[in-house]
Amino acid sequence: MNIAVMYQSLRGGTRRAANEIAKSFQALGAAVGTYPVTNIDAQFVLNADLLVIGTWTDGLFGLGAKPAQIGKLNTLPDISQKKTSIFVTYEISPSKSLQQFEEWAIDRGVNLVHQQSFKVRGPFRKDISEEIEDFTRKSIEAITSTNA
Ligand SMILES: Cc1cc2nc3c(=O)[nH]c(=O)nc-3n(C[C@H](O)[C@H](O)[C@H](O)COP(=O)(O)O)c2cc1C
Repeated sequence: MNIAVMYQSLRGGTRRAANEIAKSFQALGAAVGTYPVTNIDAQFVLNADLLVIGTWTDGLFGLGAKPAQIGKLNTLPDISQKKTSIFVTYEISPSKSLQQFEEWAIDRGVNLVHQQSFKVRGPFRKDISEEIEDFTRKSIEAITSTNA
């Protein structure tokens, strides 16, 4: 199974989450490519069995939170019909950004299989390994059980 993990990160927290997601998929035997959204291997991405796309929550800490740097995510090639899991990182609340990120993914025509948020404070290290394992397990289950 080939999995492409793509992320948009400002201070490194979302990159770290993406790297941990990649390691977790590798531990399950998948071949994983991990890329910033602006520097992907398009061939690998378009042939992958599962895409993972993550960004951080941008806003005024409560007011008008949204998925960050959506313009960069829009530079991705045509990913319609691709089985895709999405995630956002956040500090206060992920609900608005995750909902808008889901709308973005649906607008792009992806086959959305799972979505999740991770509380990650940019410059600090926090153990989110259990949540990461939850993300990878649910993503794999969704693409293997439904055959969607
Ligand atoms: C300019 C800015 C605005 C932010 N606004 C919010 C917000 O409205 N709500 C929230 O939960 N987190 C907010 N955050 C926190 C980030 O989403 C969180 O720290 C994220 O993990 C950062 O990812 P990164 O380290 O990959 O850049 C904000 C961070 C920055 C830098």
